[in-house]
Amino acid sequence: MFVDIIIGLQWGDEGKGKLVDLLTPEYQCVVRYQGGDNAGHTVVRDDQKFKFHLVPSGISNPGTLAVIGHGVVVNLQSLVTEIDTLLKQGITFENFRLSDRAFVVLPVHKREDAKREATSDAIGTTGRGIGPAYRDKVARTGIRIADFLEEDIRARLSNKELTAEEVDEQLTLFERVRPYVCDTVSLLHKTRKEGRNILMEGAQGVMLDIDFGTYPYVTSSSPTPGGGCLGTGLPPGCLNRVIGVMKAYTTRVGLGPFPTELTDALGDRLREKGLEFGTTTGRPRRCGWMDLPQLRYAAMICGVTELAIMKLDVLSDVETIRVGRTYAIDGKVLDGYPSRASMLEKVTVDYADLPGWREPIEGIRERSKLPRAAQDYLAFVERGVGVPIRYVSTSPDRDDTLKFDL
Ligand code: IMP
Repeated sequence: MFVDIIIGLQWGDEGKGKLVDLLTPEYQCVVRYQGGDNAGHTVVRDDQKFKFHLVPSGISNPGTLAVIGHGVVVNLQSLVTEIDTLLKQGITFENFRLSDRAFVVLPVHKREDAKREATSDAIGTTGRGIGPAYRDKVARTGIRIADFLEEDIRARLSNKELTAEEVDEQLTLFERVRPYVCDTVSLLHKTRKEGRNILMEGAQGVMLDIDFGTYPYVTSSSPTPGGGCLGTGLPPGCLNRVIGVMKAYTTRVGLGPFPTELTDALGDRLREKGLEFGTTTGRPRRCGWMDLPQLRYAAMICGVTELAIMKLDVLSDVETIRVGRTYAIDGKVLDGYPSRASMLEKVTVDYADLPGWREPIEGIRERSKLPRAAQDYLAFVERGVGVPIRYVSTSPDRDDTLKFDL
């Protein structure tokens, strides 16, 4: 019996959905612990594409208990739409549970995001009302799923700058999810006591963490293992594997510093080849080289035990692959990771130039069968981050994944 966690090590969109889908057969329970419908996980299975925003992507494995933990903020409209879409695609929901302690994202929160994004304070949010919903939670003015079980819920919603139609809509939407609502803290502990394996499914990435990320260009929750314990009620001591997911290059959506960003034709090429457009918003993602100072920082905070490198195939055919290895300001190499966005904007990156490979790598199943340059690239990253690589993904297909023994 074990509890493992999957974490995005960059600015989100690392390919966590594919990895969760691949690993789910080893677990009897998958739980989301933070974020909301700002997340977008795509899973491709037998040529069918599933898009997940709130529902844990592990639900695509029949029989897996799929839980939305209380650390998630839940937009009821998005959840119901997602459930309906997945039902039509053949996914079943008997094993789906929603925490009664989770807070809801209301239409007013989305309006607040939109208002902010129209000002000079814009940070490039997904516009899903995530920040305002977490703000209300911390300010102790939020509405929880459990509040819908109270008699005064209509009055409470009416105090929230919602129209009468919106209040009715929230009440109707809640009735759709009512059958899934339960005390997920007890459920998860019971699942663990019964000897079943649990996977915590992170959303976003460490560089979007409210404390550790590039503040204020961050989301409002913590994708780290600390966030995992907070958002599920499972204690830190039960955590076993901490799987850090990263792309073979870097992407970011929204505003904020990005030291290894490529603003030239090569950045466009990575975007086109890697289909780097947001699952949630469709926005083009900014693309750049792999960034070792950033990855070392993220792996250190999370205590990552193994790496999963996604989208290595996107780098095939790039003549020289660059990897950022140190940051400097005014010629002085930095030790820790800068806490201020203004400092990060100023850093100069020292790059290692590594030879690329031309051969396609899809379908290769052994590390030793990869082109020599690809093997050298992986070894360089492994040494640079200081964590062994366990998985390498070479296409969106779940079969195109190399697995190494540690
Ligand atoms: P929010 O989470 O919508 O408030 O957005 C805050 C920042 O996090 C913005 O830069 C978003 O683009 C980014 N963000 C939020 N969710 C994701 C995600 O799932 N992938 C990538 N970026 C995200």
